[in-house]
Amino acid sequence: MNTKIKIVISDRLTDKVVDMFRRIGDITYHPEDKSIERLREDLANASVLVVRSATKVNRELIKSAPGLKIVARAGVGLDNIDLDYCKERKIKVINSPGASTNAVAEHVLGLMLSLYRHIPRANAGMKNKKWDKKLLMGNELFGKTLGIIGFGRIGTEIAKKAKCLGMNVLAYDIRKTESEFAKFVNLDTLLKNSDIVTLHMALVPETQNFMDNETIPKMKNDAVLINAARGGLVNENALYNALKSGHLSGAGIDVYPNEPYSGKLTELPNVVLTPHVAGSTYEAQTKIGKILIGRIEEIFKSNNNE
Ligand code: 3PG
Repeated sequence: MNTKIKIVISDRLTDKVVDMFRRIGDITYHPEDKSIERLREDLANASVLVVRSATKVNRELIKSAPGLKIVARAGVGLDNIDLDYCKERKIKVINSPGASTNAVAEHVLGLMLSLYRHIPRANAGMKNKKWDKKLLMGNELFGKTLGIIGFGRIGTEIAKKAKCLGMNVLAYDIRKTESEFAKFVNLDTLLKNSDIVTLHMALVPETQNFMDNETIPKMKNDAVLINAARGGLVNENALYNALKSGHLSGAGIDVYPNEPYSGKLTELPNVVLTPHVAGSTYEAQTKIGKILIGRIEEIFKSNNNE
């Protein structure tokens, strides 16, 4: 293996994964210094750039990496990468679909339970020495209907887990029509009948603002919306108004149109917000590291044999 592969890691990875990368190349990694100037400088000699969702791998950034061969997305979503320009420059873009499926599915369940049992509010009260028992009456997931929009790996995993919890599962997907874990219905039927709606599709022009002033009002009164996919899928104003008016009883959000997020959803009591951490488990990140390193080694090996 060529130990001289120059690898720039521009978003935070676990120490273990950084060490794994160190075994296959020379690493440049400054998790504390997020300045774009520093990154451009680092990229001058890089052949591999490893990113998560924070780094915007746009044309301008790629231009500062004349020797770049691979952009490795440590995760799933490729919406932060200019794929057309990478293609033009013959830069391979690799990711690790599947490695974080379970992490995201468990986080979605965490958001659902947090909202249904008011766990963040209860915790905040206790830390303020308040015994809010009478204000914290909750609901149970058992017997409720979960609507999953986008039935890929993550959607399917959530359906499996929801079934184990005794939930009814509805699904809507533009490509799939059946699964042993869900009943497929059209979008309006899903929105009208689900106590909880969770989004699991990619952000592409057709899904931008998928939940907006037209679709959110079709959701059941008192329903809950969960988004751990991409911020751009939900129109922030439409969601804010539906929560404020009481049409929706809550929302669990992990992703935002612009991150880091500090917008108006933070003002609402019936929202549980997390800072894009659904895929952030040690287990998922280690799997991601292994997959990417295997792919990078393969690519360099086949390039050397050409
Ligand atoms: C993904 O697309 O893999 C998830 O959104 C996780 O993104 P992250 O690597 O920035 O946490």
